[in-house]
Amino acid sequence: MTEQSRTLSNVLVTGGAGFIGSNFIRFLLSDEGFNGKVFNLDSLTYAGNLENLRDVHDEHGGTRYHFIEADIRDFERVDEIFAKYEIDTVVHFAAESHVDRSIVGPRAFIETNIIGTVNLLEAARARWAGRDDVLFHHVSTDEVFGSLGETGQFNESTPYDPKSPYSASKASSDHLVRAWGHTYGLPFTISNCSNNYGPYQFPEKMIPVMIMNMVDRKPLPVYGDGSNVRDWLYVDDHSSAILRIMRSGRSSETYVVGGENEWQNLKLVGSLCTIVAEETKGDADELLDLITFVTDRPGHDLRYAIDCTKTKSELGWTQRHTFAEGLRHTVRWYLDNPTWVNHIRSGEYRKWMERNYDRR
Ligand code: NAD
Ligand code: TYD
Repeated sequence: MTEQSRTLSNVLVTGGAGFIGSNFIRFLLSDEGFNGKVFNLDSLTYAGNLENLRDVHDEHGGTRYHFIEADIRDFERVDEIFAKYEIDTVVHFAAESHVDRSIVGPRAFIETNIIGTVNLLEAARARWAGRDDVLFHHVSTDEVFGSLGETGQFNESTPYDPKSPYSASKASSDHLVRAWGHTYGLPFTISNCSNNYGPYQFPEKMIPVMIMNMVDRKPLPVYGDGSNVRDWLYVDDHSSAILRIMRSGRSSETYVVGGENEWQNLKLVGSLCTIVAEETKGDADELLDLITFVTDRPGHDLRYAIDCTKTKSELGWTQRHTFAEGLRHTVRWYLDNPTWVNHIRSGEYRKWMERNYDRR
């Protein structure tokens, strides 16, 4: 295990109002070893929701936590923020993150995920020239490696082979971060993680779509025949991996992160039906009857799986949450937070979905 430990002082979290970013901010501010400040830069797209951070704002707002509404596509603004808040650490979550949306409208993915990342890299290059006490941590996805067949796992040496506009834009951003490290000496680390789940996930991704539709007794849209496989990781386990990499990861290195928890979609939806039925004192069979096979996603990646030996052995990281416990906690969270759910339900996203998806 590496001995090095970086001090994180003025941390710029991009995309901190989204699902993983908001959970990461909560995780970081509750970490005993962290004494710095968090600057949450987010443009509040449909996926950005400050209600995700209400508790954080109440406890730390104006002292250790600051929200800055800004768009990473705006270089001048990003550069000004770097200077004004004397940023020494970046953890870059901000992205367009949903594969289905990238199929319907890829341009926003290019603009935010690629150009936005370049803007952050350029601000870091300008403001951090000659410094080695700084770090740019780039949060990426295992989808950059493409799709696996029935066997095999991704690791840090797997060649890039992205298949969707989303994964291609993330792959591009990974390459750009490495290029800025190689060419300009920018200190960086990258993580490529598998599918996350947990509280505050926007209900366009599979697990919250299914939970909310079960509660509403709406059809549960399973793409294709439901045989696609994803490796699921509880969001706090992703946050703990990122924090370890930021503190102790070797500069210029990539770390893959996963749940070692592969599930076929159809089986997972079945499990969710059981949990939701138990937690609502309902009938699992009634929920199972809601399963509806819908037209498959074009170019749907069959399977993702991660070999995270390097992250575990170098950084001493491991997953802390079992899937059984994490899924039940997630279901309970959606059931126990009707205000959050209802605000999303009444929002623009439904209209967008209705306009763009005939299958829902
Ligand atoms: P999300 O869609 O829930 O949140 C994205 C956030 O970025 C939102 O708050 C949004 O407002 C903000 N944002 C979007 N465009 C912006 C812009 N131009 N300027 C500033 N802010 C902008 O996404 P998520 O699921 O939390 O994913 C976060 C990151 O983690 C992404 O980079 C994603 O690629 C990566 N990732 C996600 C998963 C997953 O399972 N969700 C897995 C691995 C990696
Ligand atoms: P998703 O949560 O969109 O994540 P990703 O595409 O990044 O892996 O989808 C997870 C899996 O669930 C994926 O194989 C597509 C499938 N899926 C459905 O079957 N139905 C749905 O309504 C959604 C959103 C996804």
